[in-house]
Amino acid sequence: MKIGIGSDHGGFELKEEIKKYLEEEGVEFVDFGTNSSDSVDYPDYGKSVAEAIVDKVVDRGIVICGTGIGISIAANKVKGIRCALCSDTYSARMSRQHNNANMLALGARVLGLGLALDIVSAWLKSEFEGGRHELRVNKISDIEG
Ligand code: RB5
Repeated sequence: MKIGIGSDHGGFELKEEIKKYLEEEGVEFVDFGTNSSDSVDYPDYGKSVAEAIVDKVVDRGIVICGTGIGISIAANKVKGIRCALCSDTYSARMSRQHNNANMLALGARVLGLGLALDIVSAWLKSEFEGGRHELRVNKISDIEG
């Protein structure tokens, strides 16, 4: 599985920590920036990672901004994206098992590093359960048209 990762300036430091974690875990990733703490616009990075998933350059994505809100809203505008903003491991797990979330959003100014990495771990290791949840996820796609 290949992960796309991206952030704005508010999420830059956490992005770098998550990259270290992915390296330790042997998870392949592509970094879509940003590459410093200089101010940038979160929609650009949510869009880049989301489009890479739709284009099958990567399988799933992790995006980070200050709250995780802006970048998740932006990512969810891309057709085919189900980006879950998570601040706890239960939601992270459920976003995979029930919602087949193909992107995870985190708020770097909301979470401590330990919790953020636990959330990433739970999300990466959980799989979609299908079944009745598939029908519901398909209904989300129907809304997109
Ligand atoms: C940037 O200051 C901040 O607005 C952004 O990182 C994010 O929190 C937006 O939702």
